[in-house]
Amino acid sequence: MDVTEAIRRRRMTRSFESRPIDSEVLDEILMTSLLAPSAGNSRGTSWISLLGELETARYFEAATDESWRRSAPRAPGLLRAGAVALLVADPAAYVERYSAPDKVGSGLGRSIEAWPVPYWWGDAGGVVMAALLLAEEAGLGACIHGAFRNVDAVKSSLGIPEPMLVYGALLLGHPAGDDRRSASLDRPGPSRAERIHHAGW
Ligand SMILES: Cc1cc2nc3c(=O)[nH]c(=O)nc-3n(C[C@H](O)[C@H](O)[C@H](O)COP(=O)(O)O)c2cc1C
Repeated sequence: MDVTEAIRRRRMTRSFESRPIDSEVLDEILMTSLLAPSAGNSRGTSWISLLGELETARYFEAATDESWRRSAPRAPGLLRAGAVALLVADPAAYVERYSAPDKVGSGLGRSIEAWPVPYWWGDAGGVVMAALLLAEEAGLGACIHGAFRNVDAVKSSLGIPEPMLVYGALLLGHPAGDDRRSASLDRPGPSRAERIHHAGW
């Protein structure tokens, strides 16, 4: 599979088979994804991997409500994910890197607040995209879950230190093939000309 094909084929999978996924395949996806570009080579992103039902339950029980797990139409398919990997970003690693002599002139080494564009989020997006494409290549389905609810509970359940930020959770598994189509896909989108501007906005 080439890169273009992987990008074109990739879609979020929100319904998995209960079949487990291979731990070596998971490790390989996570390790290789960390080769994504990193600002200043700071490499302040890391994964927490949860493999198998007992471990993935720790994420789902902290991140979701009991009523969602019991009655949301998508819950059964998502809860069957063979693995969940949380991507964690450490802003302090970037501040420290940008206070080194070769970067101190940027002014970004002063504090987290000094960053007009927090590079840790960009790095996290690159890592996640790489992992999504690697999952596609490995014949697995994957879905990213944003971290917008119960984040403190997730952090405390998995022992993530306070200054670390959670970018999201990558759910991975064998696709069940019965995904409910996301309403997001039916929204009319911007045209090509609105997204690729030539020679100026
Ligand atoms: C940062 C980020 C957060 C997302 N959060 C969620 C989420 O919480 N739940 C979900 O079902 N999909 C989530 N998605 C998936 C998007 O809805 C999906 O990528 C988009 O609708 C396009 O569909 P496709 O990826 O299948 O092409 C997220 C995607 C990104 C990049």
